[in-house]
Amino acid sequence: MREVNAVVLENARIAEDIYSLTFACGEQIPVRAGQFCMVGIHGYPLRRPIAVCKAEGERITVCYRLKGKGTRTLAETYKPGEALSVLLPLGNGFRLGNEKKIAVVGGGVGVFPLVAAIREFAPERKVFAYMGFRNRAAVCMEYEMRRGERLVLCTDDGSAGKHATSVQAFMEDVEEIEPDAVLACGPVPMLRALKSATAGRNFPVYVSLEERMGCGIGACLVCVCNKKDGSRARVCKDGPVFEIGEVEL
Ligand SMILES: Cc1cc2nc3c(=O)[nH]c(=O)nc-3n(C[C@H](O)[C@H](O)[C@H](O)COP(=O)(O)OP(=O)(O)OC[C@H]3O[C@@H](n4cnc5c(N)ncnc54)[C@H](O)[C@@H]3O)c2cc1C
Ligand code: FES
Repeated sequence: MREVNAVVLENARIAEDIYSLTFACGEQIPVRAGQFCMVGIHGYPLRRPIAVCKAEGERITVCYRLKGKGTRTLAETYKPGEALSVLLPLGNGFRLGNEKKIAVVGGGVGVFPLVAAIREFAPERKVFAYMGFRNRAAVCMEYEMRRGERLVLCTDDGSAGKHATSVQAFMEDVEEIEPDAVLACGPVPMLRALKSATAGRNFPVYVSLEERMGCGIGACLVCVCNKKDGSRARVCKDGPVFEIGEVEL
């Protein structure tokens, strides 16, 4: 992990309430899919955690939804050329062995680390993507999501793609694709649905958690979650990726 004095290259709206921020780090920083960065925003003592979506040479792209004051300030005030202080790469990321067929199941802003997974794991492996959005206006990064073997785009209201959740769409295909592993990220209710739908299946499911964070580097314990064995884990340092049965959702 290092602190990078980056420069904003682009910070533009790509869907309803969603922005894509690309910054130049001045050097190439190796980043694994599922890792994240802590973005410093003027006026806020705490940096904001955002998953890395694309790492291309010295350029990093993250996508964020306008949520509270921090992300609104980020969208409104950081124009191309502006300095940006970023800590990266953080967290463990998705680590795979020799699995050949991967399913990625995402919902909401959880689709963004999975774009990085598709970029990293396709085309060497077959990647089947199930991506859920609120509605048509929220759909973005479709081009990136099509890099794999299959993309099933879903919306909650049926205004684009399949009228289903990404978990439902994945479970409709699961017998056909027989994945060797599943990578998932999204709101906790979605992860719970995935956990119960895949219970007893013979493939591992790895989830990336988006817990509230303070420091992002393992020091403040704001992000601690409970593990099934009774121990506790720091999502920022021990995660954010865990095997789905390892943590309490
Ligand atoms: C590992 C990780 C990866 C993430 N990746 C993305 C991403 O790719 N795109 C995206 O849109 N969002 C992502 N998030 C969520 C994002 O960090 C929050 O939406 C953002 O911090 C909200 O900041 P705010 O100031 O606008 O909101 P406020 O609610 O005003 O934030 C107040 C405080 O709460 C924290 N906070 C609030 N909501 C969350 C949340 N859901 N998760 C973590 N901290 C939160 C903030 O960091 C801040 O310290 C990720 C979170 C984590 C932990
Ligand atoms: S955010 Fe500080 S320990 Fe995880």
